[in-house]
This record gives sequence, structure tokens and C-alpha cells, in this order.
Amino acid sequence: MDDLKAKYIAAIADASDEAALEDLRVQAVGKKGEVSLKMRELGKMTPEERQIMGPRLNALKDEINSALAARKASLADAALEERLRSEWLDVTLPGRGRPAGTIHPVSQVTEEVTAIFADMGFAVAEGPQVESDWYNFDALNIPGHHPARAEMDTFYMHRAEGDTRAPHVLRTHTSPVQIRSMQAQGAPIRVICPGRVYRCDYDITHTPMFHQVEGLAIDKDISMANLKWVLEEFCRAFFEVDGVELRFRASHFPFTEPSAEVDIRCSWEGGTLKLGEGDDWLEILGSGMVHPKVLQAGGIDPDQWQGFAFGMGIDRIAMLKYGIPDLRAFFDSDLRWLRHYGFSALAKPTLHGGLSA
Ligand code: PHE
Repeated sequence: MDDLKAKYIAAIADASDEAALEDLRVQAVGKKGEVSLKMRELGKMTPEERQIMGPRLNALKDEINSALAARKASLADAALEERLRSEWLDVTLPGRGRPAGTIHPVSQVTEEVTAIFADMGFAVAEGPQVESDWYNFDALNIPGHHPARAEMDTFYMHRAEGDTRAPHVLRTHTSPVQIRSMQAQGAPIRVICPGRVYRCDYDITHTPMFHQVEGLAIDKDISMANLKWVLEEFCRAFFEVDGVELRFRASHFPFTEPSAEVDIRCSWEGGTLKLGEGDDWLEILGSGMVHPKVLQAGGIDPDQWQGFAFGMGIDRIAMLKYGIPDLRAFFDSDLRWLRHYGFSALAKPTLHGGLSA
């Protein structure tokens, strides 16, 4: 009996899970278990023997049962401990932030530009990005043989075989929206037209797709002086820094006469682009007085009406204002870049609320 006791107490202590414990219970105190069989032998004993053996067997059975119960409890405790350790949760940790999106600098700057020109009475007009060559070129006084067509590095759309019409183009500038606006509303006009434009060009300040905002003002007595005032007023409001310096440079566009390009003083020192200092000039827009032929193409009588137009690079002015040195990064969709240069979705730019607050 001592051997039985030693064997089962040791085996129970070693049992690694509940199934092993159950096996042991069956082997020892189950119906045909070793201890149970011994108890059956009690019937064959003399009363004297039984008086000694009976209590001892009962005690053995009790001991085994309580060892089984104790081991079962301790296995359950260990399992619970393990669960508590592996499913541990620190409820005092701060919540996980939702990955908030940001407003792309181009969208932000478009909003800023719109807010400033809206304040000067300009409405917003839009046109298609796939444009007929008439709107993109001819109507703007750029005939088929004109070198500007080649200079613009135009992307041409595919034409079905046998179709001999001039192919459509990805618009190379927002100027076709001038014509569409004239046709749609006649004179007088005061609109800006922001949007995507395309040219086959790629370096640190050029990407094949970029953004422009066209401006068009037509009335009875609009002059170059109005153009200059509007652009200076715009730059002062937009760049929000003292000492923004503009340079009006005589230039040529087929759709304006006279024409001027506007550069802004900047510095590229140390790889950062800074405004209002340095010896570099970055071209930000082309402008001029709308050519009479362009007014005519838009259905407006050039003997009665005149006006100015300009086309400004939105990405360029975004780079300048926010010190972004490489234009190509604008369109790489790199989340780290977007988080760094992006804007809060809740901070809508307005003139009274602060443009880039
Ligand atoms: N369309 C010209 C360009 O893309 C810019 C421009 C617009 C110039 C309007 C004059 C007037 O370069």
C-alpha cells in the first residue's frame, strides 16, 4: 500500500494536464482501478484483517482523491496565470490615433489662391483636361505652324486609324478655359481657372503633370496697370511675408499683346528655397493684355472690350511659400512627405481666418 501510495502521489504531482490526471484517476480509483480492486479484496479477509485494512484503504483512496483535486486546481491556476500573462492589456495606454489624412499642398494652395481672388471679385471656371487642339492652340492665336506648339512639348491623344482630324491634346495650359469662359458668358468677365495641365518635361522644377491657375478679366477699360495691381496684391496676400519682390519682364505669348512674365526673388542656398532674398529668380507666371484675335475667337468684340490674362504655376508658388525644393516629390505619394508638408483638413484657408493658419 505504501508503494501504491508513493507511485500515485508522484505521478499525480507530475501530471502535466487534465487528461493525464483523468487517466491516473481511472488507473487508481476508477471502477477497475488498482485501489478499487484492493478494496474488493476486503470481502475475502478475516474480520480482524478487514478492520485494519479497511480504514487504511479508505485513507489511501482519500489521499489519492485529494491529491488529484489539488493537482487539478493547481493546473487550472497555472492555465489562468498563463492566460492573464498572454492576454495582458494595459488599459492605461493612450488610444491609438486614427491615421488622419492631410490636405495636399497643391489643394491647399489652390484654396488659398481661390480665397484671395474671390475677395477681388473673381469667380472660378473650369474646363476639360483632354482638349481639342482648337481650344488649346488655334483659338489662342497659335496656328498649326507656330513654334509654340512644339515648344510646349504637347501630349497628343491617340486617334483611331483612318481618322484624319487633328488629335485632341492633354491641355498644355489653362488658357483654353479663357475661350470657354468667353463663349459661355460673354463680356464682362472676371474669372480664375485652376486645374491640371500636361507637358512632356521632367526635372527638379518640372513634372509632366502640373497645375496652373488662369486669370481673365475683361471689361471696357481694363489696362496693364490693373494687371500689375492685381498680381502685386495677390502676391502680397498669398506669400504672407514682407519684402516679396516681383520682376515684370517683357515677354511674348501669341495670345497676349503686350506680354510680361513675372519672376519672384528667391534663394536656393543650402538646398532650401527661400523667398524675398538671394540672387535667383523663379518664374511664376506669364501674363499680358488679351490679344484681339483671342477675344474674337471667344465671340467678344475686340473694338468694345479689352482685358488682361495671366497663367500662374500653382506648384511653383506652393514650393516658394512652403519651402519645398523638389517639385517631383509633390506627385510621389510618399506618406512621410504628405504628413510633413500636408495641411490639416479642418483648417480651411480664408482671408479673414488666416490663409495658412
Ligand atoms: N498659358 C501661358 C503658359 O502656360 C501663360 C499665360 C497665360 C500667359 C495667360 C499669358 C496669359 O505659359
